[in-house]
This record gives sequence, structure tokens and C-alpha cells, in this order.
Amino acid sequence: MTSKENFRWGVSSSAFQIEGANKADGKGPSTLDKRKVRAGIADTSVAADFYHHWREDIQLLASLKVTSFRMSISWTRIFPTGTGSSNKAGVQFYDQVIDALLANNIEPVVTINHFDMPYALITQFNGWLSRKSVNAFANYAKFLFQHFGDRVKTWLTINEPLMVMYNPAFNGSHYQDDNRSTKANFLMLHHILLAEKNAIKLCHQLVVNGKIGPVSSFQNVYPASSHPEDVEAAMTAESILSYWALDVAVKGKYPEITYNRLRKLKLAPQVSPADQIIFQSAFPDFIAFNYYSSIRAEKYHTPTGFVIPFFDSPLFSIDMGPQRATKKWTAMEADPVGMGIAARKLYERYHLPLIITENGYADTEVPSTDSIVQDDKRIEYLSKHIAICEQLIEEGVPLWGYFIWSFMDSLSGREGFSKRYGLVYVNRTDTDLRDLKRTPKKSFYWYRDQIRDWRAKYD
Ligand code: BG6
Repeated sequence: MTSKENFRWGVSSSAFQIEGANKADGKGPSTLDKRKVRAGIADTSVAADFYHHWREDIQLLASLKVTSFRMSISWTRIFPTGTGSSNKAGVQFYDQVIDALLANNIEPVVTINHFDMPYALITQFNGWLSRKSVNAFANYAKFLFQHFGDRVKTWLTINEPLMVMYNPAFNGSHYQDDNRSTKANFLMLHHILLAEKNAIKLCHQLVVNGKIGPVSSFQNVYPASSHPEDVEAAMTAESILSYWALDVAVKGKYPEITYNRLRKLKLAPQVSPADQIIFQSAFPDFIAFNYYSSIRAEKYHTPTGFVIPFFDSPLFSIDMGPQRATKKWTAMEADPVGMGIAARKLYERYHLPLIITENGYADTEVPSTDSIVQDDKRIEYLSKHIAICEQLIEEGVPLWGYFIWSFMDSLSGREGFSKRYGLVYVNRTDTDLRDLKRTPKKSFYWYRDQIRDWRAKYD
């Protein structure tokens, strides 16, 4: 399972970013469907229209020769209002997708929840801010394990809890217009982490041979200088941004020193005896992490006004310094070595197998005259990161897989279709749906050959 022979070569996606059909066949609205996008930016109504193109897309996956496809399930396709009775048509959609993947020898790696919270749970009880969300999530996860667990054996819990806690468009505070406080954000995260524990426990109870792990947006933090105060700030930043959630998942408790510092600031959530029992009740089989680049921290000074809200903290300041990229779509320079450092930190702290569930390169792209996108910069970025995977395995890290973000062009965070990560070009723009034709980019063929060569070497 840990060696080169069984390595998962994959590509990633998430439901709201590719599916479209956001009102089809009984699907209920999610926070992402309700979000008001800026004028001229695509929304979730069509996205890459995977909902209607999945047969053809799975054929492309098969020709890419990936071993695994990371997808997420849309909570509101299964439970349109978050709880209650399941929606047959939604369940059937995922049955078909999962069966088709398996028929093509592609392992579905399923994220239970990738950012899209049922909107009904926001109006009922403020979503993750309420403890009621913990039970609603358990009910949803239980259904997935019972229904799909005979075929899906690798599960991911909740994508990037830190992003969810800080992004109003994901967690729903957007709609309450209540300028939620950092303290409330940490309470939401606390509920997410309780929900995650329940999912891990249920997976182990219900899925025969099932494996499950958390998905971290791991932030590899460098000190901005060797000044001890900057070094300390970087440790604190990493502890809040990465270990806060992962320590709960793997050790069943928050990191003590950071917890006490945040408690002093009246930001840390209360951990009741009942919570402690839940935190200690189940542990993951692996850690999944998404990695794009690294960051730098220094001793706290007045906020730098970074667009990413969790970079503003009273305990450190993020200053990218020479890491800051000048490119349009990335705030930080690529740092493949940083991915190796991240994996090393994770493995040496937790001693669990690792899966890199996202790594990718964004660009503004148009096909050239031969209709192929010549994405050499993406190939360069990916090849440097794949070389690090090989090195990690050689040095004894049980790396279970590497997944490129993303399989096809899809809705990007706040930038819709002008920012593209896919190995497959989808012919649409933010404002013009065109014909949604899929055309593999140069990187698609390059990745296919990488997989072929790797397998020829190790199978
Ligand atoms: C990850 C998310 O954080 O980053 C993906 O899990 C997302 O859903 C990816 O698309 C890239 O972010 P963005 O904002 O550039 O699309």
C-alpha cells in the first residue's frame, strides 16, 4: 500500500466546481449556489457541466490512465435540505458515476464535503456555527457509508476546515451579514472537527476495509528571518493554520501551547468533557493534504491586509517577502521543495501515511491554432512536484498518492473560468457557455506518459 507499485496516480475535482445542474433532479441549494458572484464571473449553475458529461469525462479519465479520481458528493443532491429524506435522483447520479469509474478500473476517492454547506442549514441554525451541524453531518456521512461503502473504500472527511471556517461564502455567514468574529470562526471549526470525528468513527464501523482521513490545506510556514521572534511567529502560524485541526484529527486534542495562547485572547473554543470523548473516539488512517506553495511569517505587526483572511492573526504576521509571486493568479512563488518539507513535517509529527490530494498550476488559457493548450508552465510545475514525491518515497515516507488539481477546468474560488487549473480544457468562458467541449491539454498527455513510465518501472 505504501510503495511505488500501489501508488495512486490521480486527478482531483469537487462537486460544486464541476457538476453544474445546480437545481436539477431535486438538488437543494448550497451556500455556494446562493453566493452572489461578481458580475462577469461564472456561478455554479453550469460549471463544467459534469452532471451531463460524466460518461465522456470518465472515458477521458480512462485514457489518462489514472488509478484514482478524487470527487466530492454534493450534500444537497443527497439531502436537499441537509437532513430528512434522501433524494433518489441525486443518489442515482453518484451510483452511476461510481459504477462507471470502477468499470474503468478507476478508484473513486470521495470527499464527503468540499465547501458546499446546505443552505437550509444556514437558515435553520447558522450552519457550522451551531452544534446541530454535528448531528446533521453525521446523518449525511452515515448515509454515504451505508449506500456507497460497498464500492467506495477511500474517504476524505471535510475539505480544508480552515478555509471553511474563514470563508463566508462557504460557511454561510455571507448571508447573515453579521461580520462574524474570529471567536465564532473557531467555534465553527470546533464543530467541523467534532463532525469529522464522527465521520471517521462511522466509516470504520460501516465500511468494510474502509480508510478515511482529513484533508488539510497544509500551510508550510518559513520564518521571515532567523530572528528568534520571527521563528516563534512562524511556529505559531503553522500551529494555528495546520496543526490546530490535524492534532484534533490525529491526537484527539488541540495543540496545548497554541490553545492556551488563543484562550488568553478569548478565541479558543471550550472543550467540554463530552467533546473530549468524541475527540478521542476515532482516529484517521492517513492524512491528506493540499499543497500549492509555502508562506513566510514574522513577529506580529499591524495587519498586512492579505486577501486570505486567516493570514491576519494577532499572533503573527504573514509577509511573503521574496516568496511573493508577481504572476497574476498566485500570491506565492512555486516551492516544490516546500512540498517535501510539508510531507516531512507531517510524517514526523503524526507517523501516518500521506496522500497529496491537490497540487496544481493556474493560468489564463486559450487553445492555440491546433486547438491544444500548450501548458508548458504547468508541466514544469507538476514535474518538479512529482520528483519530490519520488524522493519522499525513496526516503521512507509512506506516500499513498498524488492528485493533480484539477482534472478539468472548473469553477475557481472567486475567479470562475478565467483562472484554469485543468489538464482538460473546457470550452466555455465566464460569460459564454459555448459548446463545453473537452480538449486534453499538452499536460494531459504528459501526465499520462508519466504514469505509464512510472508503472513500467515499478509494477
Ligand atoms: C483548494 C480547494 O484550496 O484550492 C479547491 O480545495 C480550489 O477547491 C483550489 O479550487 C484552488 O483555489 P482557487 O481559489 O485558486 O480555485
